[in-house]
Parts: sequence; C-alpha cells; structure tokens
Amino acid sequence: MVKLTPPMGWNSWNTFGNDINEQMILEMADFMVERGFLEKGYEYLVIDDCWSLRERDHDGKLVADPEKFPHGMKYVADYVHEKGLKFGMYSCAGNLTCAGYPASFEHEFVDAATFAEWGVDFLKYDYCYHSSIIPGKYLYRRMGTALANCGRDILFSACSWGADQTHEWIKETGAHMWRSTGDVNDSWQSIVDLTKQQDAILPFAGVGCFNDMDMLVVGMYGKGNVALTGMNDTQYKSHMSIWAVMGSPLMMGADIRSLTPAAYDIMTNEELIAIDQDPACRQVCKLEGIWNVADNIRIYYRALANGDLALGLFNLTGEKTSIRLNLDELGLPMSTGKTLRLHEVWGAEEDNTVTNGTMTKKLEAYDCLVYRASVVDLKY
Ligand code: GLA
Repeated sequence: MVKLTPPMGWNSWNTFGNDINEQMILEMADFMVERGFLEKGYEYLVIDDCWSLRERDHDGKLVADPEKFPHGMKYVADYVHEKGLKFGMYSCAGNLTCAGYPASFEHEFVDAATFAEWGVDFLKYDYCYHSSIIPGKYLYRRMGTALANCGRDILFSACSWGADQTHEWIKETGAHMWRSTGDVNDSWQSIVDLTKQQDAILPFAGVGCFNDMDMLVVGMYGKGNVALTGMNDTQYKSHMSIWAVMGSPLMMGADIRSLTPAAYDIMTNEELIAIDQDPACRQVCKLEGIWNVADNIRIYYRALANGDLALGLFNLTGEKTSIRLNLDELGLPMSTGKTLRLHEVWGAEEDNTVTNGTMTKKLEAYDCLVYRASVVDLKY
C-alpha cells in the first residue's frame, strides 16, 4: 500500500498544459520544499501530459522529449527525490494520450518497467483514445497488474473521469485513487458541477481508492491552461474546503512560484488539511438540514478518527443565505445529554457550543463554514 490517506501534491496540467520543461519542473520542486508545501503534506510532483516525443524508440519505449527534458526523466526524478519529494508521471490507457502523444495501450508492461527505471512513484492514467471493444476495466487491470509487478511502489492514479461506471470496477484494478469527475476548469460553475457530480458516488470513496475530484484551481485567477473566468478568494476557499471535507486528493494546479498570499493561505490551512487527511478516511455524508438546504446550499459531515466530526456548510449561490441543522441528524439528539463544541477552521468564529440542539448559521455569497466539531456534555 503506497498511500493510506488522500494523495497530495502538485500537477503541471492546470497551469502549463503542453508548455512544460525541465527547468520549470525543477523550480517547482524547489518551491514545494522552500515554501513549506512538502511540510504541509504536498509530496507528489506530477508531470502531466505532453512530456514525451511523438514516437517510441526502436525498443518500443517511451522517450522524454529532449527539448523539454534535455537530461531525461531519471535526472528529473533524482532531483525531485533529493528534495524529499515523490515523482509522478502521466500516461493513458488508449493509443494516444489526450493531447495526442503515444500512450500505453498494448505497451503496459514495458511502460511500467520504464517508469520504474526512471524512479517514478505515481502514475496518472488517462482514458482518451481507448479501445471501443475492450471495456475500461480490462484496460485499467492491465496497467494495475503491470505496476504491481514493476518492482517499484508506484501509486496508480486512474483518470477515466467516472466514465463507463468507473466506480463499479476501479477498485478491483489496483488503483489508489480514481477521477470521479470530468475535467476541472478555473470557474465557479466548474466547482459547483464537480461537487454535484459526487452526489451519487460518495459511498465509493475510502481507504485504498480515493474519489479524486480533480486538481485544485486555487490561485489561478483566470490564468493558465484550464483557466476560464477565474474566481475570487472566497470561491477558492470554498473550493478547497469542499475538496477537503470530501476527502479528495489535493493536487495543486496553480503556478506555486507566484501565488498570492491569500491563495497560499487557502492551500496551506493545516486544520483543513488535517480533515482531508483524517486517518479514518470515512465516507462523507450529505445532510438534509432543516431549513433552506437545497441543491445549492449544502451541508456535509464526516466522522473523524478521534470521535470529532468535520462539518462543512456551503453556500454555492451568489446570494446571502442561512442554514439550519438539527443535531439529531448527527446522532446527537438532546436526549443524549451531549452536544457539539464548534471550532471553525478559517477563523470565522470564536469557538462556540450548540446549546439548543440546533445550529443556525449565516453564509455570505459563495462562502462556507468548516468546523471541526467535538462532542461535549450539554449544559443547561
Ligand atoms: C484529460 C485529463 C486531464 C489532463 C488532460 C491531459 O483531459 O482528465 O486531467 O490530464 O487529459 O491531456
């Protein structure tokens, strides 16, 4: 088992797309360590699509593009490892990657061996240009088996976007995380869409194979490969909070060399990261609430390993709103003599205790409240 909590790191796709090279990747490695991201848990540095030549070599092996990576991938992997980070790469279950580079179909074992030789610790495995007659589960089983037998621990990050009922078969392939969404882009609508796409598949997350809501767009502000409208800091804060309360992998996608202080603070909130990384990795649950809880006003809770509860209240709309929740729904009716002590991880409130069995909270447009709540005696 390579990772027992949701993987965290940085991935090149959201900002750089095809525009990747050795110098930028090495700088990113420096920044992940120097700016304290590694210390906060962001340990995988992943090169996404567009790293290879358009042709395999005469032995059928993938070749790193020498213009982009003049010293080859082993050199990059060694540099990344020296920094104390882990190194991730990308391929695809089809004939070509999504951007049209050679992919691993019918080359699964040779590619797994190549990645192992280079010192790769993480493989993101996409689903473009795949066979229309071989079901996805067989394509992912091939690579799962190849990775499990390549002689190196390589985290298998499946990326079939939830297509073809991925949730029904992905765990059996050996994948450690699976993309449970379509592609993210840097817009609030994308965050809302990806959040709602989780509704039917929440029970499939858990230790061993995490639902992956796609890379973070926090701090992109409308610049880069998947940029669209961009978002404001409140929206980025809610985006990060949803991912963490859901227990999604947290892969940064912005250029971390030039983050704003606000974006830095959002992605390094230790209390929020602790909720994401809670060792129990329980399934998150969407609550009913008792007032005003609608499709765009959401409450999630997750039972944490030490008995605390993570509680996320989200206003996905552009209007102010209120949310009300009865603690009965959390297994804490007043008859138990217990209630919740609330600690808000963004510092929006002083710590406070629910006194009458019901929480009522106000939320600004697009805002959220995230609590680490502990069970305490109810005092009248
Ligand atoms: C797909 C994936 C993205 C990214 C691109 C690369 O769209 O879902 O995350 O890897 O391919 O081409």
